[in-house]
Amino acid sequence: MFLEPSAPLLGTKHSVFSPPQMAVHRIRTYGDPVLRTVAAPVEIFDDVLNRLVDDMIETMYAAPGVGLAAPQIGISRQITVFDSQDGDGARVLINPVLLETSGEFSYDEGCLSVPGHYWTIVRPAFARAAGVDQQGRPVEYVGQELLGRVLQHEIDHLHGNLLVERLDRKTRKLALKELREEALGLTET
Ligand code: NI
Repeated sequence: MFLEPSAPLLGTKHSVFSPPQMAVHRIRTYGDPVLRTVAAPVEIFDDVLNRLVDDMIETMYAAPGVGLAAPQIGISRQITVFDSQDGDGARVLINPVLLETSGEFSYDEGCLSVPGHYWTIVRPAFARAAGVDQQGRPVEYVGQELLGRVLQHEIDHLHGNLLVERLDRKTRKLALKELREEALGLTET
């Protein structure tokens, strides 16, 4: 997920010098079929997964974003990383299930895969999600407002849903037309 431009940018505490084993991946954008694909669960928790998670965190901070799902770097697996700026740093949620949502919260939401666009989207304010970390240990996250939003947004990515799916019918129609034209190179992005 992406913060609106007026929001404080992430990554100030994060060194600009990355260890050489980490890599920033290219972020797939609207129109790439991987973003519409339901991601497969992670079954093997090994060094390859650990490296991928490190790369995802690096890619998220470099963007900069507050959340990233593996399909956004072309990997159709149920892996998300996020940093909702609460001081806890980057967190990892693999094979997540959204257990509970409640309330209502309106927020200008953006997505690294739909660059340059923000829409005011109403979603539940509170979210509780469970899954495992990169070692396969159970984790659970409970969040209001920004964290609640990030959890819902990133889990949506794993089901092949982009934020435009959460717009009301009329706004979605206009948004999809604009995005199609952009993808075809008919308008400047
Ligand atoms: Ni996104």
